Amino acid sequence: MSDCVEPNNPSSDEDRRGFLTKLCLGLSALIGTMITLPGVGFVLAPVFARPKQVWRKLGKLDEYEVGKTVSVEFKDSIDQPWAGVTAMSGAWLRRVSEKEFIAFSINCRHLGCPVNWVEDASLFMCPCHGGVYYEDGEVAAGPPPEPLARYTVRVKDGFVEIETSSVPLTTNDQV
Ligand code: FES
Repeated sequence: MSDCVEPNNPSSDEDRRGFLTKLCLGLSALIGTMITLPGVGFVLAPVFARPKQVWRKLGKLDEYEVGKTVSVEFKDSIDQPWAGVTAMSGAWLRRVSEKEFIAFSINCRHLGCPVNWVEDASLFMCPCHGGVYYEDGEVAAGPPPEPLARYTVRVKDGFVEIETSSVPLTTNDQV
């Protein structure tokens, strides 16, 4: 009988208590993680989400004259019901040939003022601080640090379309 474990062995009670404590802590941590993770994911998802890119129709192909640069308006890809006029964005669209178009962001690369196309001089001029761009969007003079941003343009089903993203920042390479 000396080998039998006594029912009220203090070391056995401590082992059981220690095991239950660790089990409770482990379960609490698991439940806490299960509750917290979806919330953290919801908050951080927009930070890591890629900007949504959307094709917007501009107009019929035959509305644009070869060699001309015209201003166009389109809805940004944010397109929230509350956005109103802030969802609208602009670009300078040039028909280079029968099937080729270039679209420049309307926003100056310095501080984002809308630039004007001056046909006679073949230059984009920024009214805010005197920024000037050549017709290909390269900087000609003034404070802009880089060329005008460009949008991707395509012709589909007889319409000119522009690809826009939800973050039309003036300092991005891609609008
Ligand atoms: S915003 Fe265009 S030059 Fe400053």
